[in-house]
Amino acid sequence: MSVSGEVGAGPTRVAVIGTGYVGLTTAVCLAHLGNSVVGVDVDEAKVARMSAGEPPILEEGLGELLREGLGSGRLAFSCDTAAAVRGANFVFLCVPTPQGADGAADLRFVEQASAQIAPHLAPGAVVVTKSTVPVGSAGKVVAALGRDDVAVVSNPEFLREGKAVEDWLHPDRVVIGAEQEWAANALSALYEPLGAPIVVTDPASSETIKYACNAFLAAKVSFVNSIANLCSAVGANATDVIAGMSYDRRIGADHLAPGPGWGGSCFPKDTQALLRIAEDHGYRFELLEASIRANDAQFDTVVGMVASAAGGEVSGVRVAALGLTFKAATDDLRDSPAISVLSRLAARGARLRAYDPSGPSASDPRLDGLGLEVCDDVYEAARDAHVVVVLTEWPEFAAVDLARLAGVMAGRGLVDARNMIDPGAAKSAGFAYVGMGRS
Ligand code: UDX
Repeated sequence: MSVSGEVGAGPTRVAVIGTGYVGLTTAVCLAHLGNSVVGVDVDEAKVARMSAGEPPILEEGLGELLREGLGSGRLAFSCDTAAAVRGANFVFLCVPTPQGADGAADLRFVEQASAQIAPHLAPGAVVVTKSTVPVGSAGKVVAALGRDDVAVVSNPEFLREGKAVEDWLHPDRVVIGAEQEWAANALSALYEPLGAPIVVTDPASSETIKYACNAFLAAKVSFVNSIANLCSAVGANATDVIAGMSYDRRIGADHLAPGPGWGGSCFPKDTQALLRIAEDHGYRFELLEASIRANDAQFDTVVGMVASAAGGEVSGVRVAALGLTFKAATDDLRDSPAISVLSRLAARGARLRAYDPSGPSASDPRLDGLGLEVCDDVYEAARDAHVVVVLTEWPEFAAVDLARLAGVMAGRGLVDARNMIDPGAAKSAGFAYVGMGRS
């Protein structure tokens, strides 16, 4: 049955199920656009915190919009799914899809949430899957809902952590995958104030677009990391090579910064999931396999650079890490390349200290087993170190006082895995500097 407009008149009412990065950003931004939004989460302490105007994550602009929404009365948080969903025009599913043991995305939370909202949905409601789900999942949500008077629409997110609010409010495009035209039109109208291009397609294509984008970007970073490694081998300067590439409009400058490998909550999980999806459908995605292998090798490349800076071996060497998060402007340690590098160094007997501007807790389980001492600033981390390694591109590392840094260290090794520090200035301060594809 195709119905529309049966959910009552008045301001558009939205329920957002799951208030992680994607859900919370979606909730505050939709409230900012004038909609009436309830964010639902199972975590009572988190709901209390958000209701008090405190964002649970470090994300630029999120706190301001959270407080604006609460102040205007358009935004609220709750643990009561049924009450939030009742009468909502749109229900956004933003629950996690963790990586299962076999590499495929685990749909348990999406299916649980679907079953939970099903009895409370108003006729004509649109259920929007924002969680990154395997191709074909829209059908599973339809089955879990068991309602033929509501629509299920795929609407993937393309938010970068650290820039999530900006990306939400100024998207390059909005992708909508719907079986029913009325549902696609309704969701298009919700996004219309953003003035972005809207790609309307079927659910399977929409789900594929999300994986294709992340796989492409991950491959792009793996490619540029390989180019930087090649520059080291042939004596070329990666910074100049990349500048020369990036002005080509067909290539572009984004995701073209070499580093210690890609990580975070999306690229590792989504590339594995896409490999699995391809395999399940009888296709071997060799280019993607190679990107993943190149990324794993990149962690070892940085370990090798630290070993060389220490004179060949890292056992007993004191290494100071600048940065622990998977990238700057976030406090997210999930699948961080910095931690992948440090765990390899720890396994080879290095003694580790680290500083990260996001202030991670030394007891964070992701740091377990590293024997890592978490310090309060760069110079404390570098005290008596033989080698300093820059692992995350926090802007403050570019402004580090190199003379002071050299003064507190026992050695002079500086491995700049994010190409942040000026090689000439580092050498003038007495460092043996090595960057990614430049020295
Ligand atoms: C990514 C996608 O960009 C976003 O569209 C998607 O919806 C979620 O996944 P995010 O995980 O926040 O966003 O990180 P991104 O900025 O893409 O970086 C991913 C990883 O690649 C990080 O570890 C980052 O340090 C690394 N990276 C990125 C580089 O090493 N070089 C680059 O030039 C860009």
